Amino acid sequence: MNVLVIGSGGREHALVWKLKQSKLVTTVFCAPGNAGIAMEAQCVDIDATDINGLLRFARDTKIDFTVVGPEAPLVIGIVDEFEKNGMPIFGPSQKAAELEGSKVFMKYLLEKYDIPTAQYRVFKEYEDAVAFIKNTGIPVVVKADGLAAGKGAIVCNNRQEAFDALDIIMKKRAFGDAGNQVIIEECLQGYEVSVLAIADGEDLIYLAPAQDHKRILDNDEGPNTGGMGAYAPAPQITPELMMRIHHEIMLPTLKGMALEDRPYKGVLYAGLMITASGPKVLEYNCRFGDPETQAILPLTKSDLLQAMMAARDGMLKDMEWENHPGAAVCVVIASGGYPGHYEKGKPILGLDSRIDDNIMVFHAGTRWEGENIVTSGGRVLGVTAVGNTIKEAINSVYKAVGKIAFDGAYYRKDIGAKAVKYQETL
Ligand code: AMP
Ligand code: GLY
Repeated sequence: MNVLVIGSGGREHALVWKLKQSKLVTTVFCAPGNAGIAMEAQCVDIDATDINGLLRFARDTKIDFTVVGPEAPLVIGIVDEFEKNGMPIFGPSQKAAELEGSKVFMKYLLEKYDIPTAQYRVFKEYEDAVAFIKNTGIPVVVKADGLAAGKGAIVCNNRQEAFDALDIIMKKRAFGDAGNQVIIEECLQGYEVSVLAIADGEDLIYLAPAQDHKRILDNDEGPNTGGMGAYAPAPQITPELMMRIHHEIMLPTLKGMALEDRPYKGVLYAGLMITASGPKVLEYNCRFGDPETQAILPLTKSDLLQAMMAARDGMLKDMEWENHPGAAVCVVIASGGYPGHYEKGKPILGLDSRIDDNIMVFHAGTRWEGENIVTSGGRVLGVTAVGNTIKEAINSVYKAVGKIAFDGAYYRKDIGAKAVKYQETL
């Protein structure tokens, strides 16, 4: 089969890497890809949101199956467009992708189907939102309704911060129309986990639960980023807790989406807070996580393409799914200055050094410049190690990270430390 992967980040490199292992696959194409993906797949320079361009390419190249990485093409309806044209594709329809595309819709669904989440109010008018903040408990979280590249949720520790957040979203319109409505919600306490499943509308198969590291600095300090590293499986998620997550959150969400006439096929990614009273939904994403995927996919044993095809066909029930034992840790190497201003075009050294079989170097912001691979984005590489334990994976991954260098390279030194600390308390 010819398979097309859409996107250009570390997540897409991990998808390409995993899909290539499928015995069904002849060639993997990627649009637009990056320098690392270009070493494993045929890259084509088409933007991830150019649906007509992608459809034309897929037809001309006789692509048998398309896999979408980022949310943007899903939310604008790439799946509907491909399917309408007889091109099989993995992901939710535009109506189903609204679970990520509109937080107001997500909250409506959760409330209607009694799925645990933070208490909230929706506001269309700035003045009403300000009046509410004046009388509400603090801390609160202020969120733009629509897509905001991961920056639309602002945790506010005092009223002034909440007024500022409203100003940024509703007056300065930092996220454009995504800020036409805001959600103000209760700030949940606990630990965060990303639970990703492949869904076929009715049934689910679970990937290893993962934990992201969103802040730029060690000990979860400093501003939010796209994600500075991840580990899986998250040891805090016991089988009992996973059962609760399945019965209280994931399954009712799928049922609710079906009842709303938006059957959900694709990756259902629940961002959860595990609170003292149980798991609650912070957000839903309609796609794989980045960098969670770079830790999760190396732990999957079964054929990912087969699972994706079964999901599209509504046949997951019959699918056997196996994960490898052990753990994986992914450390993101970023450009100095990220998530603020950073420079690009720095040659990356050490990419060709002999690295062990249990190490994967997934590229994100990289491109070829003549004979060299240079930096071209904020998050540059995601280095993943697989080990018998998280501790073992941490040791391996940091050895590998130490062999790679570029001017200004920055990475967190504590990816996975929380899991080890937790395990030591058991
Ligand atoms: P979101 O874009 O909704 O995933 O939010 C981004 C981040 O903000 C989450 O990963 C959490 O760390 C934090 N966050 C969002 N909502 C809440 C909440 N209700 N309580 C505490 N933290 C939250
Ligand atoms: N790692 C967070 C996300 O993919 O949204």
